[in-house]
Amino acid sequence: STPAGADNTAVPAVAAVAAETPKLQILYGSHTGNSEALANNLAQRAKAQGVEAEVSDMATFKTRDLKKITNLAVLVSTHGIGEPPVQAEDFYNFLHSKKAPDLSHVKFSVLALGDSSYVDFCQTGKAFDAALEKLGAQRISPRVDCDVDFEDLAEAWQNSFLQQIAQTSGANPAAEAKSNEAAPAAQTQYSRKNPFEATILEKINLNGKGSSKETIHLELSLEGSGLQYEPGDALGVYGTNSPSLIEGVLQTTNLSGDEVVQGHNGEKTLAEALTYDYELSPLSSVTLAKYAELTGSTRLKGILADNEKVLEYLHGRDILDLLKEVPYKLKANDLLSVLRKNMPRMYSIASAQAAVEDEVHLLVSVVRYQAYGRNKEGLCSATLADRFKVDDKVKVFVDKNTRFKLPKDADTPVIMVGPGTGVAPFRAFMQHREVEEHTGKSWLFFGDRNFTTDFLYQTEWQQYLKEGVLTKADVAFSRDQEQKHYVQHRMLENGKELYNWLEDGAHFYVCGEAKRMAKDVHNTLKEIIEQHGGVTHEKAEEYIKHLQIANRYQTDIY
Ligand code: 2AM
Repeated sequence: STPAGADNTAVPAVAAVAAETPKLQILYGSHTGNSEALANNLAQRAKAQGVEAEVSDMATFKTRDLKKITNLAVLVSTHGIGEPPVQAEDFYNFLHSKKAPDLSHVKFSVLALGDSSYVDFCQTGKAFDAALEKLGAQRISPRVDCDVDFEDLAEAWQNSFLQQIAQTSGANPAAEAKSNEAAPAAQTQYSRKNPFEATILEKINLNGKGSSKETIHLELSLEGSGLQYEPGDALGVYGTNSPSLIEGVLQTTNLSGDEVVQGHNGEKTLAEALTYDYELSPLSSVTLAKYAELTGSTRLKGILADNEKVLEYLHGRDILDLLKEVPYKLKANDLLSVLRKNMPRMYSIASAQAAVEDEVHLLVSVVRYQAYGRNKEGLCSATLADRFKVDDKVKVFVDKNTRFKLPKDADTPVIMVGPGTGVAPFRAFMQHREVEEHTGKSWLFFGDRNFTTDFLYQTEWQQYLKEGVLTKADVAFSRDQEQKHYVQHRMLENGKELYNWLEDGAHFYVCGEAKRMAKDVHNTLKEIIEQHGGVTHEKAEEYIKHLQIANRYQTDIY
């Protein structure tokens, strides 16, 4: 059936739909599944207030259906530096192309997800918002840009958008209130906002003596939390700032630390707020912008006018570098007003609940470096390495990743590429497949610097090979010889067989460093398909696109 007013743009939209059940098309472009989950949640709430809602993935949405839409919600995340998720690319390009239709019959709003520690924050959402407006669509509630702690803002956006739809189409928002009352009281659930305090059961540095790396294996207890996770999910972990960095900030600002401030859950001292509630390192682009505004610094404003310069400035700096370079008399509250909230770090879980039950295992690479004359460290990895011991408690929550999952079918082969800490989710995959007695073949590509010190979980892989849980393993140790050997070199050497696995329906997974490794692995995959599939460059790209859309090529990269 055709939605009311769909083909009749001459009639004012408000009048045309007033008497009918309003319809809402919800489109999401998701990488980790957050916008997908929010899209489904919006649909449920819309239905509860009498709005007929349909949820579609941008990857499979038919663009010709755009002309039938009256109300449109777009929920989309931004990837890396300002890029749309792969699943959203085609739709994104379509809306920006000459083929894009007139959308003056559409009322819309955009929810943009992103990470403010990157430049071009929420760029994809902003671009969708602008494109829809340019095509004539009417924005009925403002776009909202969410940082990684998106829950509250996303809910506010949903409320405002649904209210606008109700107002412009005569739906009954009271219906929702009623259905809410009828719903059973929500269980206490641990979440990003209400993390569980997990006890550290075990903590081991997996790298051998003399290694250039420090990678710790952690076992935490989830006992009593009711928390559930699946292979491929991540664990959010809240760290604390380094005492010496806090000390430096207090000295530089001439603040004592005893000032009483408003922290995230009530009053506390400035020193406490700086320990738990705010992020002191690395420096984020949002903090830089707020500090430039507060101080009126022309130097900082000059930097902010150019994205390249912002990236260069942020690299290796923390808040203390900024405070020293651009001194300004700050009150405690001024300082807090420019700082970003302390964000949890997400670690791909290295265990499967089927195997470890009430435990969760993590593989954490400890970040330490020198920059601008001081020793620096990763906020969370150093917390786990230096500040927390066995029996201490860490604040954690489970972050679902519906986009990094074992195949549903236990017979489907899997190819797993995970150098360094990227191997973590594959340990979870293997634990799961062992306990659940999956019969699908599995092939691991692992790499690190040196065989003798850096072969993470070596004995476990050997055991899995022996048992047949793991069919094949190929490893690349980059610094054991003159030239670099990387995982993608092992893939190339095994190109024919890898291609055959893909032809047999294998799922291909990549986890680890995004900028170089995942890109190189991607290009190598393309090369293998070209070579062994005997196809052109373009056809190989299409082949990869098909894998991505069928969720057979999944990445968890950072
Ligand atoms: P390197 O440090 O010797 O350069 C895990 O960190 C492993 O990934 C290391 O062996 C590291 O090698 C390697 N690595 C670094 N860059 C890579 C890339 N572009 N592709 C694949 N592996 C890479």
